[in-house]
Amino acid sequence: MKTREKLLQLLISKQDSWISGEAIAEELGITRAAVWKNINLLRDSGYTIDAVRNRGYRLLSETDILSELGIWKYLGPECRDLDIHIKHEVKSTNDLLREKAIAGSPDGTVLIAEMQTEGRGRSGRKFYSPADTGIYMSLLLRPVEMDPSKVLKFTTAAAVAVCQAIETVSDTKPQIKWVNDVFLNGKKVCGILTEGSMSFENGEMDHVILGIGINVYRPEDGFPEEIRNTAGYLFENTASDTKNKLAAAVLNNFMKFYRKGDFRSYINEYRKRLMVIGKDIFVVVRGENQSCEVLDIDEDCRLVVRFQDGKIEHLVAGEINSSSI
Ligand code: BTN
Repeated sequence: MKTREKLLQLLISKQDSWISGEAIAEELGITRAAVWKNINLLRDSGYTIDAVRNRGYRLLSETDILSELGIWKYLGPECRDLDIHIKHEVKSTNDLLREKAIAGSPDGTVLIAEMQTEGRGRSGRKFYSPADTGIYMSLLLRPVEMDPSKVLKFTTAAAVAVCQAIETVSDTKPQIKWVNDVFLNGKKVCGILTEGSMSFENGEMDHVILGIGINVYRPEDGFPEEIRNTAGYLFENTASDTKNKLAAAVLNNFMKFYRKGDFRSYINEYRKRLMVIGKDIFVVVRGENQSCEVLDIDEDCRLVVRFQDGKIEHLVAGEINSSSI
């Protein structure tokens, strides 16, 4: 662990109370000058640290910065094998992690960025990823010997994991817009992009990259014009350690599901939060829009719908006029 990280750990353990430069120097086995240098490095990364003569240093609790140590504080046993890396700025965490996957990084490698310059969404769209107000996270999974039909459920399981994580750190009730966008108060607060690579040698999944983008706070300059009416965020005010808690809760929830290989029980959690049940939607049948009522979802997260003639069908995303859901 770098000196800066050790210092951060020490300050976090004493959060909001003073610790003298001398005590830090002794604890970390460094000089007072090195303490000062590392305090400034932490300040440069955004931590608010008070320094007062004769008292020492104090990390203020409203600090909300993603850090490996900060996330580890909240991780459960199912996450103990994760290898977590935080980056300040990347083009896209999914792209960088794919490079790492090809170079041989193991199952459970996690890459989290404070901002992305070329964040990607589904269907070739961009994912707006400004600095410090969101969590942009990718998780590398190598589900060897897992049936690819189960791998398809990672995205919907991740949507449940994100909703449960938001419920843990707030008293809000997020919902899922079918198939896997997370909404709060009618606006999208999280998008999920799952990308995979099959091995041609054995027809098994080589790796899967699960990319999750969460808008935690309002971006400094607001959202760009084209998403201003549809994009939302979770919290109005910065609160201490929220991003670390939230990122850890997402990982805890998802890894529980992944490690157990339990693909049934999450469906109920998914169903409970689904916005579309009971609504009328439009489906394109032979080039024509037809209205039907959504009754339920099945075990594969397909929509179970009833057409006006009483016929019941199970539908996948491509069959549905997405503007109607
Ligand atoms: C969508 O809403 O269409 C999916 C958005 C997925 C965004 C996340 S942010 C982390 C990861 N890296 C990316 O470039 N995209 C995903």
